[in-house]
Amino acid sequence: MIESVGKGRTWVLSGTASSYGLHLTDGDELLHLHWGPRISGADAEALAAQGLPPCWPFESQLDGHEEYPVEGGPRFVRPALSVRTDMVRGTQWTFAGAEVIDGDELRLRFTDALHGLGLTLHHRMRGDADVIERWVTVTHEGEGPDLELLRADAATWTLPQRGHWRLSQLHGRWAAESLLVRSELTYGEKVLSSRRGHTGHQHLPWVALDAEGATEEHGEVYGCALAWSGSWRIAVQRLPDGLVQITGGAGYDDSGLLRLAPGQSYTSPVFAGLWSDGGFGGASRAWHAWQLAHVIPDAASERPVLYNSWEATGFDISEEQQRALARRAAAMGIELFVVDDAWFGQRTSDRAGLGDWTPNAERFPQGLKPLADEVHALGMQFGIWVEPEMVNADSDLYRAHPDWVQHHPGRARTEFRNQLVLNLAREDVQACLWEQLDGLLSSAPIDYVKWDFNRCFTDVGWPGEEYPQKLWVEHVHALYALLDRLRAAHPTVAFESCSGGGGRIDLGILSRTDQVWTSDNTDPLDRLGIQQGFTQLHPARVMAAWVTDSPNVQLNGRFSTLRFRFVSAMAGVLGVGGDLTEWSEGELTEARGWAELYKKIRPVVQHGGLYRLRAPEGGLSAVQYVRGDETVVLAWLQAQHYGELPPRLRLRGLDPAAAYECLDTGAVHRGSVLLHHGLHTGLKGDMDATVIRLRRR
Ligand code: DGJ
Repeated sequence: MIESVGKGRTWVLSGTASSYGLHLTDGDELLHLHWGPRISGADAEALAAQGLPPCWPFESQLDGHEEYPVEGGPRFVRPALSVRTDMVRGTQWTFAGAEVIDGDELRLRFTDALHGLGLTLHHRMRGDADVIERWVTVTHEGEGPDLELLRADAATWTLPQRGHWRLSQLHGRWAAESLLVRSELTYGEKVLSSRRGHTGHQHLPWVALDAEGATEEHGEVYGCALAWSGSWRIAVQRLPDGLVQITGGAGYDDSGLLRLAPGQSYTSPVFAGLWSDGGFGGASRAWHAWQLAHVIPDAASERPVLYNSWEATGFDISEEQQRALARRAAAMGIELFVVDDAWFGQRTSDRAGLGDWTPNAERFPQGLKPLADEVHALGMQFGIWVEPEMVNADSDLYRAHPDWVQHHPGRARTEFRNQLVLNLAREDVQACLWEQLDGLLSSAPIDYVKWDFNRCFTDVGWPGEEYPQKLWVEHVHALYALLDRLRAAHPTVAFESCSGGGGRIDLGILSRTDQVWTSDNTDPLDRLGIQQGFTQLHPARVMAAWVTDSPNVQLNGRFSTLRFRFVSAMAGVLGVGGDLTEWSEGELTEARGWAELYKKIRPVVQHGGLYRLRAPEGGLSAVQYVRGDETVVLAWLQAQHYGELPPRLRLRGLDPAAAYECLDTGAVHRGSVLLHHGLHTGLKGDMDATVIRLRRR
């Protein structure tokens, strides 16, 4: 809902529990008014009437108060927008009108007469959520020279005045993604970014801020998350007077996004913001609900239990071996069988084949169809792995088109994992990828594509192109367009976003993929920490997790029980990635039982409200999911010490007046007791884990 008051120069957007307010002064300065609990138009007018507080010498009265601070004029904060022609840098805006679209999107238009530039600020708050989606459009509306868009952030967020702010972030690296860390926000700027061409393993493009010691279930939390899968930057600034602003968008520095000729425009990605007074857990659940309702495609469907052969077979694959794995997987209750790397071109190692998306003739003499048919006959869907944005120098594609990769003339072409990055901004590259992938998806009954991206950008050059810098942004636009086109042409195919594990997880890719590969780290204990961080923002419905072999092959050689591995992976979208040919009959039977149990709890795990009951740092950790009358608790005990009973788990989200029956033991628990005193898990020893299912009576 959007209210416009105060001579049409004050606006309030309201969602289910929160409001967001803006005010345009008589001097056309757009000020931020409010972000927090619901307020009325009259409240917003009263706030606007207070005007700006006085400021100290050497400071600007506007700083910390503007909705979208730009470069130019009396401002010293980090500008969200920076534009230049050959002659003039910076902008000066005149208000040109407001518009409400579909009842939930406010568009505020401004023009800069000197540059002939138009700027539209978009704010959308849907009636069923508290997430505000913000983005900008910048258009060259004049006839003059081209304009260089040095930076155009999607939004700047302004927080209310409080004492001490604490910053939460999700940092990491390969095999250690989305680890939650909290620290005091001191004066100056904290910059999180990727300068790698993809979202990156190093930070999820998300921050959360709380001022008064929010806990998992209590207190005010502000969060912001960017919907962009290329390089990005979020700068959190604590200004001299203590005010906090967060500005973010595409690109890691201010050295140029795009050049706009007359008539051309740039639309930024969405930078979404959320206020919650339900603590970090309340904020997560609100983020999850919004993504399930408005971001993730076909989110109401359930994701199948998959098998992936990567850890079992690596590059050494054959049709017969995949058939053998498929038969074992089907017997275990797997629903989707995915052939990972090495089915195509001359891909017998990571040295060759990327770019040639046709089945390897020795490994799959009749193509993929016979295997796909057998997998279907076994009752499973069939999926494959691709990495379309890359080539190996040893590939037919690169031999034919060495100029199709990002490179600087006269400079070495950096290889990581023996691969180079295709220049997706080129139309011929786009056309070739479309043809290859559309052809592939038409050549066999393929239900699922795991789309990987295994190296960062290094040599972002484009010989012959006037403004090669645009490649950073246009690569991402081309990737999105290719995915959108493939999805439209093959609507039954689901896509997974992978980038050496969790290197490309963001709201942008999630709006066009069905799930993400959370991490190459499949150690079940490490995964608990990764999942704790991941679920701060994203729902279990997209969080793929595999049960692999013990000792762990990929990373650390750790021994773990099959029970612990399964319950850890059941916290998201369950998959299996072990070498099933080495599993004993006993293990296969046990695994079948876990897969069956997962299918029973799946609706609650994938679509329920998620409560993180105990963080993984301690001996006992647990997550609870609630959907309607159903509740599922997953709990893990790493190691028991001195024979002590692990503490009871106090549950959340239940009705204190109701009774809950445990579906496995038949025991009946009172809601008030579960909430206040908790539930014994019965866990003991090392690497123990359990699934507790409760139903309201
Ligand atoms: C990186 C992915 O994260 C792995 O799961 C696997 O698909 C390999 N790439 C294959 O090269």
